[in-house]
Amino acid sequence: MRLKIKINRNSKGSDNLSRLSDEILALLIRNAVHETRNSLFYATLNNHLSVKGFKNSANFCAKQIEEEQSHFKKVWDYIQKRNAHAILSPIPEVIGDYSDLVFAFRSALNLEYQTTEIWQEVYDKAKDTSDGITLLLAEKFLKIQESEETEFMAINDELALIGNDALYQKLWDNTYEF
Ligand SMILES: [Fe+2]
Repeated sequence: MRLKIKINRNSKGSDNLSRLSDEILALLIRNAVHETRNSLFYATLNNHLSVKGFKNSANFCAKQIEEEQSHFKKVWDYIQKRNAHAILSPIPEVIGDYSDLVFAFRSALNLEYQTTEIWQEVYDKAKDTSDGITLLLAEKFLKIQESEETEFMAINDELALIGNDALYQKLWDNTYEF
């Protein structure tokens, strides 16, 4: 799902882009790092699945790389718009042999859950501190996460039935409509 966030400086007076609170800034930075990690994770998946011959799944992961990068960019742009000074923390490693479909997509779903958790924290904090613009941002991302989770849960449900049989996995990869 594509994300469009428009910030209208004049909608609630000219001063609605005031300084971000330190706590919200820290959460947004955590999110930016996490989105980058997600994109590296999908790049790894894309490679492992492609080498293994799961072309359809590999293509799907290639699209996810771009999507996660665009999420990072949106969050980063937002931090700039709020004129906050951001220092990125190191990106956690992407570890694992993701050439198995079941393991790969279970890992993907877990990362999506983590993304949702961070956005939920942003949402709660924005609400507590009456930061309406951040609240709007969090709402939009939570909607995206809802559809991401639904998509990945459906994939995981199917793969749980298929299990680790290489032939069935290949057949599934050929026929699943991502
Ligand atoms: Fe994302």
